[in-house]
Amino acid sequence: MSNRTFTMIKPDATSKGYTGAILDQIIKAGFSVKAMKWIKLSEEQAGLFYDIHRERPFFGELVDFMSSGPIVAAILEKENAVADFRELIGATNPANAAEGTIRKRFAASIGENAVHGSDSDENAVIEGDFFFSKLERF
Ligand code: CMP
Repeated sequence: MSNRTFTMIKPDATSKGYTGAILDQIIKAGFSVKAMKWIKLSEEQAGLFYDIHRERPFFGELVDFMSSGPIVAAILEKENAVADFRELIGATNPANAAEGTIRKRFAASIGENAVHGSDSDENAVIEGDFFFSKLERF
């Protein structure tokens, strides 16, 4: 089991001024930040990141949204990081997210759902490598 996961605070949350509150909730839940950057993706970069969803009907909407404004990308560390982080953020659709989860508190819809969290240890590594060089992680 890996102890790292990858997250993005998405453009809906950064534009509404939720970045600080979301990071505070993440850190209070016991995660430590091993890499972090504030960055705006191009449409091409957003498409590459979400390449696995390319054939889905919502792909175009997802790429437009994820390239619409700045995001915060981060690698987080905690025991059982992938599963614990997915519990902290709640269901993909905020309407189904448990009370107190980040998506319940800060997300508006399934498309604009405030945060991303890796769904496996393997994807956490792939996604972290997408954003960060060895010099940028600790
Ligand atoms: P995320 O966890 O970042 O991974 C893929 C993203 O696709 C997901 O969060 C949602 O933001 C988005 N997504 C998933 N299903 C839908 C949908 N039905 N309509 C729009 N966006 C979706």
